[in-house]
Amino acid sequence: MGEEQVSPRPEAAAAAVELTGFVMSAEEAKRAAAAAGVATVQDLLPLLVPSAMKRAIAPISRFPVGAVGLGASGRVYVGVNLEFRGLPLCHSVHAEQFLVANAAAAGESALSAVAVSHMPCGHCRQFLQEIRGASGIQILVTSDAEEGCAPEWRTVASLLLRPFGPHDLLPEDVPLVLEKHGNPLGDPVPAVANGFAAGDLEARLREAAEAAARAAHAPYSECPSGFAVADGDGRIYAGGCLESAAYNPTLGPVQAAIIAMVAAGGGPAGDVVAAALVEKERAAVAQEATARIFLDAVSPHASLHVYNYRPSDA
Ligand code: THU
Ligand code: ZN
Repeated sequence: MGEEQVSPRPEAAAAAVELTGFVMSAEEAKRAAAAAGVATVQDLLPLLVPSAMKRAIAPISRFPVGAVGLGASGRVYVGVNLEFRGLPLCHSVHAEQFLVANAAAAGESALSAVAVSHMPCGHCRQFLQEIRGASGIQILVTSDAEEGCAPEWRTVASLLLRPFGPHDLLPEDVPLVLEKHGNPLGDPVPAVANGFAAGDLEARLREAAEAAARAAHAPYSECPSGFAVADGDGRIYAGGCLESAAYNPTLGPVQAAIIAMVAAGGGPAGDVVAAALVEKERAAVAQEATARIFLDAVSPHASLHVYNYRPSDA
């Protein structure tokens, strides 16, 4: 009989696990957790963070951030930070925002836990408030290990005391960010005829942007907007704005579409050849000017079509 004891594998020694994309199915996540020797999918999340960080696009800060979250469906969602050369810093996307937009686009209904490479900033703690039950989401910061403290799960509530949020502005029954939206847009404002029939790509972009606007989270401005981009191979990616009760952490529709592009393995944003924006006519919160600034800086040869909708009560 051997005298030596088999000591349990310490958590820190569990090896990093490579991601293959930005969404992992529930079955894939369970298999990966078992293969990594961890008890639950939540325990797998920190092991995926180094792989997520490699997917960040941070040419300005050179500070990659990776976030990996577990949805109520059992699926795992990845988020990374995105920075855009030639634009003000407010066009940047935080890894946590990417993660929430990625989960929203997949129809996820709730997030239970997020492992992130660095301490979420105040703006991200605020952005997470758009999820119903945000205070109970568990957060683990993997860089804590480098600072000599063992990473541990703690609630969003412990990171943001006495939060301002949707409850301050909206009735309880208004859908929050991961809940089903069906925004009324009204009727399309007829465009001035230019003598050319809309091409197939143009029509597909418009359809994608309109669907994104209908699914956008815009309860504060009631100005839902959707953006769709096409790459040189004719692949289309779309996203809608995700507003924050505190306004400034809001994710714009252009960023949401670029998130969809990166999450689907496309990009970079410079590959965009054509785009479409759907928003309300004379919207109190209008996206067109910002969308033009973004495209001029990032993919100046891309065409942009703007489709305005007139609210039926206007
Ligand atoms: N960043 C995040 O992605 N999440 C945070 O909460 C902290 C900051 C990103 C934004 C920017 O791309 C870079 O890290 C430096 O701030
Ligand atoms: Zn942040």
